Amino acid sequence: MIVFAHRGASAYAPQNTVPSFKMALAMKAQGIELDVQLSSDGVPVIIHDFMLDKTTDLSGFVHTHSWQELRKADAGLWFGEEYRETRIPSLEEVLALIPKDVLLNVEIKSITSLNQPVARIVSQVLNQEKDRNLIVSSFNHPILKDFQLLSPEVKIGILTANDFINFPAYVESSGIRPYSIHPEASYLSYQSIEDYHKRGWKVMTYTINSTTQSRMVESLGADGIFSDYPDLNSDIQDSD
Ligand code: G3P
Ligand code: MG
Repeated sequence: MIVFAHRGASAYAPQNTVPSFKMALAMKAQGIELDVQLSSDGVPVIIHDFMLDKTTDLSGFVHTHSWQELRKADAGLWFGEEYRETRIPSLEEVLALIPKDVLLNVEIKSITSLNQPVARIVSQVLNQEKDRNLIVSSFNHPILKDFQLLSPEVKIGILTANDFINFPAYVESSGIRPYSIHPEASYLSYQSIEDYHKRGWKVMTYTINSTTQSRMVESLGADGIFSDYPDLNSDIQDSD
């Protein structure tokens, strides 16, 4: 079971920043997850919340600020004085940092239709490099569908934080051909994972921050977990 460093090693360093990704790499994380959204001038930037207030010294929406404004924000001080002047990175900066053999999960964040070009822009940036071990995921399934049309060779992960009467039927009618399904952990069951596997879909679940929870979802058959503690299972990780 692969362990993705969720927003980097976000229990140890400010989420979605260069220090959190460097720490994940130092911990030999097999996978790294990050969140990308667009600045007002169309630069893909790495930040989770739609609002800047919690993790930076700016306030308001990410998508109403230009890259020039966002790159001046302090994205580390909220986490600790030692991270003062840590910046919001761009997607391109982070791609330059993460080796291509580390499985990278780029999660596209978008507020409904406000960021319509996001699929095209992220696809263009990711297309600039060829041999990256990559999954692109999103809770925004229309954007995932657009992205798959633009980059049909990239693995797609369908995120869901909801319970469905018949999720496989939904996926199969969506027009998306997923590599993996990424359900919130409370919606996993042995039966659902078995069903996803029969359809050829891997199962990656979030957010798993204890060894007990990790062993539980592994026993149900999960293929991967997202954890703020990429070292939580260092004794039981394997290479699959
Ligand atoms: O991709 C897994 C996880 O990151 C999804 O939730 O809100 O942490 O981006 P969130
Ligand atoms: Mg995420």
